Amino acid sequence: MAAKILDGKAIAQKVRDEVREGVARFAAAHGRPPGLDVLLVSGDPASVTHTRNKERMSNEVGMRGRLRALPAETTEAELLAFIAELNADETVDGILVQLPLPSHIREHRALGAVDPAKDVDGLHPVNAGLLALGRPGALAPCTPVGCMRLLAEAGVQIAGARAVVVGRSNLVGRPIAELLLAQHATVSIAHSRTRDLQAICREADILVAAAGKPKLIGGDCIKEGAAVIDVGQTRNEAGKLAGDVDFDAASARAAWITPVPGGVGPMTIASLLENTLRAAEARVAAR
Ligand code: GUN
Repeated sequence: MAAKILDGKAIAQKVRDEVREGVARFAAAHGRPPGLDVLLVSGDPASVTHTRNKERMSNEVGMRGRLRALPAETTEAELLAFIAELNADETVDGILVQLPLPSHIREHRALGAVDPAKDVDGLHPVNAGLLALGRPGALAPCTPVGCMRLLAEAGVQIAGARAVVVGRSNLVGRPIAELLLAQHATVSIAHSRTRDLQAICREADILVAAAGKPKLIGGDCIKEGAAVIDVGQTRNEAGKLAGDVDFDAASARAAWITPVPGGVGPMTIASLLENTLRAAEARVAAR
């Protein structure tokens, strides 16, 4: 079987077009566009690029997107005070604290300081808790939301499917397992201590690879006809992105597969924009 490609670039474009329409409706109804503030506390080149893209793409769909770059020596107390200001600003609907933070700032303090109603990254304990409780409507992390959209666009049956998630990060592995469970998949989470990873992966109708280890998932890990979502984005010395999945070998067995680049990657920002519009709508509805 030659797998069909799940084209994240095209699907992300479709999501952004939907968001653009929603943003125009919101602005017409409320006299202002949804506002997204992206906080960056470091000069890490990859984070600078990611946050600039978030700012640019939010403005492209008609939002008021702002990159708030703070100096690397910003203290934890200063960052918390800045987040408190944004929490109190009625024109700010979404707040994203770009990770990783410098080591002198505790990540859980920064993420926990964001108003859960503005937590468009879905990383506040309240939103992570709602997701774990299976409560619909919680703001969920952007990459997992994007992965679910890819599966939906492919028409992959989730209820009753065996899903295996490789990786247990708060940003991807755990939340995507919750989202798959909420749609009635039978979900296993594998990780670096899992024994016989290959055998577990081979049971998966839906395989999500989010370990950050190039070529961890070979062709012998793939069930015939599986949907394979590769979240891995490791940059090699030449600057080329590598996924966790051996694409050529996996394509020979899977029914659907995401390429790297051009699969999950473009979905993350598209889902951030979607979350920001949802947060804006929920905030005005709650007034
Ligand atoms: N750093 C890399 N990916 C992400 C993300 O999705 N959200 C945040 N806040 N930081 C990141």
